[in-house]
Amino acid sequence: MIIGVPKEIKNNENRVALTPAGAQELIKRGHTVYVETNAGEGSGFSNEEYLKAGAQMIDKAAEVFSLAEMIMKVKEPIEQEYKLIKKDQLVFTYFHFASYEPLTKAMITSGAICLAYETVERVDGSLPLLIPMSEVAGRMSIQEGAKYLEKPLKGRGILLGGVPGVKPAKVLILGGGVVGTNAAKIAAGMGADVTIMDLNLNRLRYLDDVMPKNVHTMVSNEYAIREMVKDHDLIIGGVLVPGAKAPKLITKDMLKTMRPGTVLVDVAVDQGGCIETCRPTTHEDPTYIIDDVVHYCVANMPGAVPYTSTLALTNATLPYAIKLANQGWKKACQESLELRNGLNVMFGDVVYKGVSDAFNLPYTDVKKYL
Ligand SMILES: NC(=O)c1ccc[n+]([C@@H]2O[C@H](COP(=O)([O-])OP(=O)(O)OC[C@H]3O[C@@H](n4cnc5c(N)ncnc54)[C@H](O)[C@@H]3O)[C@@H](O)[C@H]2O)c1
Repeated sequence: MIIGVPKEIKNNENRVALTPAGAQELIKRGHTVYVETNAGEGSGFSNEEYLKAGAQMIDKAAEVFSLAEMIMKVKEPIEQEYKLIKKDQLVFTYFHFASYEPLTKAMITSGAICLAYETVERVDGSLPLLIPMSEVAGRMSIQEGAKYLEKPLKGRGILLGGVPGVKPAKVLILGGGVVGTNAAKIAAGMGADVTIMDLNLNRLRYLDDVMPKNVHTMVSNEYAIREMVKDHDLIIGGVLVPGAKAPKLITKDMLKTMRPGTVLVDVAVDQGGCIETCRPTTHEDPTYIIDDVVHYCVANMPGAVPYTSTLALTNATLPYAIKLANQGWKKACQESLELRNGLNVMFGDVVYKGVSDAFNLPYTDVKKYL
């Protein structure tokens, strides 16, 4: 198969979908890999390293898209890439369709086969291609939150871990999944007083077992959230309803009850956000303030730590990319339920229920194409 790896062009996105090591694994199985010149630069991989691995470097993104049977990317295609995606081309990347209608419509029009990292799902419901980025974003949410709690950055001016004789900050984490657990681990390590809220009681039982003493668990409901936000310094949004928009757990009116300088980090922003006042921001301008509450809503948080993120992501995506390249998308998706679950839009049809529901678009059973 011919595989194309364009350079990511979304603001401050420095990750790359394939490392030189990954390229070598594909090439040694007989595949051809085209990498756009400098695609790996932001993650610390030089053109020479790709060449040494056997890949071919191409100067123009348009040429990479035009040559490839499978495009491997990191972020969802942005407007200037829409027209480069061809009919029948397999595009393997994060799409997050349910949060952005123009992208969904553009991919329907393209006739491409869109296999979304975020909905590749195992039988047990786990999302193997979301996990590594959620681990990064979860850990980073506390690092960023701690920074924006500083007074010069408009926060409350409270140190996460406190000091002897002064209480630590209170951290509230909505969602006890991968983001929430990783956030809790870092916050707890820094000495904060942490509460994780989730709907899933079994998950809370597990977290209660494995987390240190300064992490508490609570069932999530509107009443409890309304009470908790009043005295928490840092609030992390890490909920997920797979393939659908995030539920709005913090509403606009709750902001007025928070203390000035409270920091909200809505990690779920890529699924529309679980805070009503959340709108996507970039690493260049990551925060804004409403009602004296600092909002940090960067949609591609792992993009700021590309070295860690690229390795974490490609560790997880490469086995799937090899399967797709070796067998072709059809056989690979027939054999693997995980990959089949990743199909969202193909040949002009929406084949993922959460996406068709989000925009009231007709739903086509994926079996039509398998
Ligand atoms: N901004 C970024 O850069 C970035 C990076 C990685 C992941 N994310 C996003 O972070 C979000 C969380 O990802 P994850 O991997 O932790 O998902 P996950 O599935 O591991 O965890 C989500 C948790 O939310 C819980 N939940 C669902 N509804 C809830 C509710 N009403 N109240 C409380 N909890 C609820 C679920 O029970 C689950 O435990 C996703 O939207 C993901 O796309 C964003």
